[in-house]
This record gives sequence, C-alpha cells and structure tokens, in this order.
Amino acid sequence: MREVDFLVIGSGIAGLSFALKAAQHGKVLIVTKSNEDESNTKYAQGGVAVVVDKDDSFEKHITDTLVAGDGLCDEEIVEIVVKEGPQRIQEIIDYGINFDRNHSGTYDLAKEGGHSEHRVLHYKDITGYEIESVLLKQIHAHPNIEILTHYFALELITQHHLGEFVDKRTEGIRCYGIYAFNTENNDVEKICAKLTIMASGGCGHVYSATTNPVIATGDGMAMVYRAKGKVRNMEFIQFHPTALYNPGEYPSFLISEAVRGFGGVLRRKNGEEFMHEYDERKSLAPRDIVARAIDAEMKKSGEDFVYLDITHRSKEDILQHFPNIYQKCLSIGIDMTRNYIPVTPAAHYMCGGILVDAYGRSSIQNLYACGECSSTGLHGANRLASNSLLEATVFAHRIFEDAVQKLPSVVLPPAIPEWDEQGVTQSEEEILVTHNLRETQKIMSDYVGIVRSDFRLDRAHRRLFLLYTETEEFYKKNKVSVKLCELRNVIQVAYVIIKSAMMRKESRGLHYTTDYPEHAPGLEDTVF
Ligand code: FAD
Ligand code: SIN
Repeated sequence: MREVDFLVIGSGIAGLSFALKAAQHGKVLIVTKSNEDESNTKYAQGGVAVVVDKDDSFEKHITDTLVAGDGLCDEEIVEIVVKEGPQRIQEIIDYGINFDRNHSGTYDLAKEGGHSEHRVLHYKDITGYEIESVLLKQIHAHPNIEILTHYFALELITQHHLGEFVDKRTEGIRCYGIYAFNTENNDVEKICAKLTIMASGGCGHVYSATTNPVIATGDGMAMVYRAKGKVRNMEFIQFHPTALYNPGEYPSFLISEAVRGFGGVLRRKNGEEFMHEYDERKSLAPRDIVARAIDAEMKKSGEDFVYLDITHRSKEDILQHFPNIYQKCLSIGIDMTRNYIPVTPAAHYMCGGILVDAYGRSSIQNLYACGECSSTGLHGANRLASNSLLEATVFAHRIFEDAVQKLPSVVLPPAIPEWDEQGVTQSEEEILVTHNLRETQKIMSDYVGIVRSDFRLDRAHRRLFLLYTETEEFYKKNKVSVKLCELRNVIQVAYVIIKSAMMRKESRGLHYTTDYPEHAPGLEDTVF
C-alpha cells in the first residue's frame, strides 16, 4: 500500500507539467500504463498555438477559438487559456524546449486550420517528441517525484469502496486514490492519495481508424463516469482530415495540418481542387468542415482517400519543416516533394471529457482532471488546431495553484480496503476481448462517425448494448487484465458518446446529423 500527497495518472504533457510544479510542495507519484513516454503528447506534430508575434493579439486567438468551437466554447475559459498561455509556454521553453526559429532569430510560426495568424510554435514536425523528452528529463532530476511505469489505473477509490452508499451522481463523492494493476506481477495495488490528478489522455481507440497511439482508450473518462462523476460534451469527436492512407497500418500516421498551413492543397483523384466548393477558407478551414468535405468527396467518388499536394514547395523547404513526415511517406514509396499524398480522416481528439471548472476541479471532491481527458470549456464543439498542448499547460498550473492550497486540509479515511478479487478466475478466452474491441470500434466507425443520423445512432446503441452486457459478465467472472479493462473503458466511453449524440438534436461543430442539419436555437452542453 502506498500513500502520497499528489497522485498523477498519466505521463503526457498534462501529468508531467503538473508534477513538476507540485513537487515543490509535496511528494508526487505518477502512474502510467505503458513506457513513460508513451502518450498522445509524444506524437504531436504541428505544435503549440500561442500569441507571441507582434502582429498577433489575444483578441484574434480568442476569436479564432470561438469561431472553431461553433458557439459552444466557454468564453471565460477561452480568455484564460489564451491570455495565460504565453507565460506557461515560456516555462516549458525554460525547461529546455527548442522551438524552431527562422533566419532572423524570431520564432518560425506555423499556421493551421481556423487560425487567422501564423501562431503555432513547433519543433520541426515532431513537437510532441521534443516536449515529452524535455519534460521527462526534468522529472527524472526531481527528488520529490516517483514514476511507476506499466501500472494501469483500474478504478478510483471512493466512499463506495468503504461500503457507503452514494446516491447522487454528483454530490458528496470523494476520491481517495486508485486501485492500480501492476502489469509486472499481475497484482492490484491500492494507492491512497490526498489529491488525485487524472491526466490519462484521449480515447481515439473507440474508433477503428485513429491517429492516437494504443494507450488512448478513454480510461480516465470511463473511471470517472463509473464513479458517478460528471462528463460533458462527449459527442464532439474530432476527426483529423488528413491521416496517411496506408491500408493495414494501425494506428494511422498523421500528416500534420501544418502541411496545409505551408501551402498544401487537397485534391480529388483527378487532380482537381475541391475545398473552395465547401468553404472560402479552402484547405485551411476548421477541421470539422474539412473532414466533412473529404468524407463527402470520398462518398461521391467511392474512393478511400483524397490527395494532399505540397509538390509546389521546394524540396529544401519541405525537408526542413517536415523531415519526419517526409521519411514516413518515403518509407511507403511516396516522395512528397514530387507525389501527392493519399489522405483520409481518422479519429483524433476528444473535445469533451471529464467536466471541470476553471481550476480543473472535477465533480468528485479531491479529484482534478487535466489535458485531453478533461472538458474545460475551451474547445466547445470543435477544437482549434494546436490548442490542446496549450490548454494542458495552462490547466496544469491552475490545478497546481488550487491543489497546494487544498492539500493541508485533506484527511484520508483510516481503513481503505484492498482490491477485492473474490470469485474470479484466470480467463482462458482472452481472444473474446479482442473480438469485442474490434466490434465496438467498427460499430462506432460505421454509425457514429463524421456524419450521423437518428437511425444510425439507434442502431449503434442497440448493438453496443449487447457488447456491454457480454463484457460486464466476463469482467465479473475473470481476473482483471489490461486488455479487458481497456475494452470496458472503450465500451463505456462509446456508450456515453452515443447517448450524448442522441441527445443533441442539432448539428454543431463536429456533431453533424442529417436529421437536424441546422443549429438549434438554445445553446446547451450535454452532461452525464
Ligand atoms: P497524453 O499525452 O495522451 O497522456 C496520457 C497518459 O496517460 C499516457 O502516459 C498514458 O499512458 C496514460 N494513461 C492512460 N490511461 C491510463 C491508465 N488507465 N493508467 C495509467 N496511465 C494511463 N495537440 C496540439 O495542441 N498540437 C499538436 O500539434 C498536436 N498534434 C497531435 C498529433 C497526434 C498524432 C495526436 C494523436 C494528437 C495531437 N495533438 C496535438 C493532441 C495532443 O497531442 C493531445 O491532446 C495532448 O498531448 C494530450 O496530452 P495529455 O497529457 O492530456 O494526454
Ligand atoms: C496536426 O499537426 O495537424 C495536429 C495538430 C492538432 O491536433 O492540434
């Protein structure tokens, strides 16, 4: 049994940024389910949107974020993130992150969809790798931080585990830490914490095609939902318009939006441009619009992809800005300096998540949520490109400010029970888990994708219910395993996405339904 002041679940930008700050005030334990660097953060390409250029302004970044969010952003939160962003990004620069500069020594700012200015700081096309490496170096150097890798957070510990009945979904629930599965010895360990920070990232693997690494199974959102905490706006799944079309590759490799910001143009198979037929911002319209346009083009043509053309830029420029994307394309026989790149949309980012306030406090006491697993109100119905890394740093700081004040007043109950494994046996049918995961992903991709309808959602709901029932039965009888728990989480998150989508009787941002193609008159969040 372990007992700590601050327990952080996840080692992406959100968890690591918080840990480095909190460690000045107490012991921090980070648990992470894979290798320490495995995270969505590590694969971020385009960069961090932040106002640093003299021709840019907070007002412009705020407006771009609100426009992309299609009316559903929380304006106060947008202002907080945009205005506090430069200070937080300066802190990570001070840790040693080397954002690219141009010949004159100023930052080489990129542009992405929905941005009215060049404002994206980047390190070549591997910004996330640079951020993750630098933050981990700082973490290793800190004596107050311990990191446990290959530890899988299973469940939040709440009064429920003390035998108390908590009636309401929202009120009076307290978090005392987690039960975690140590994958090296297959034991479930109790980790008690005065304050817990959920930083477990996204849920791309709810879908068959995703840009997310395999860790992104929505574990944090599912855990909070099971513990009767609130989640919000889960219907808003962002599909990135341009994942590399490379059949058989899973997850999909991303072709950064920065390629379009650098002049890349989307084309039909016959070479025609088409984005001007959908939006005056053409290939640099916000993601929901571009992904829907590509989806419509693919449905019309019957093809599995459209093309992205950057061949008009010089080889030297392309190699300088996109060395990783260039090498990846070359490895499958595409020289992007001379050939068009085949691209197709893929699930990329969860714009909703665990409901939090302006200090990252969830509806469960002593539990914060930070980064992609949280719903702060910044993204509304569609995240503006490269606002995610920024949001994580701003909220890590705000959570830190609140948590250090709260820490002295938190007392853990005396008798928190161990994990109860009575009545379960070792499963001999793990393959059923794999089958159910694939089925869930197929249901979600077929019926709850870029274009939705009541009929499709209803069909998805009915089919998912069967998988849910089977999986819960299996879970009750068998010893836990990471694969089984991830499946449960994926199904739980898929369920909330479907229910949220069914409740939204309008089209807004990333939620487009043929039954209600317009905005509804009132603005409402979907909260479960
Ligand atoms: P993550 O970085 O995903 O970290 C989550 C951590 O939680 C991981 O360490 C994971 O192993 C751990 N974890 C999960 N479940 C458990 C569990 N049950 N137990 C223990 N540990 C667990 N955003 C931008 O702003 N700019 C970009 O350029 C950009 N490019 C992107 C490119 C790609 C290919 C992808 C996939 C995303 C991109 N994004 C970008 C989005 C952005 O990278 C993520 O939203 C952000 O990094 C999320 O950070 P995080 O710390 O919240 O989560
Ligand atoms: C990209 O590089 O296109 C990803 C940016 C993002 O998801 O914010």
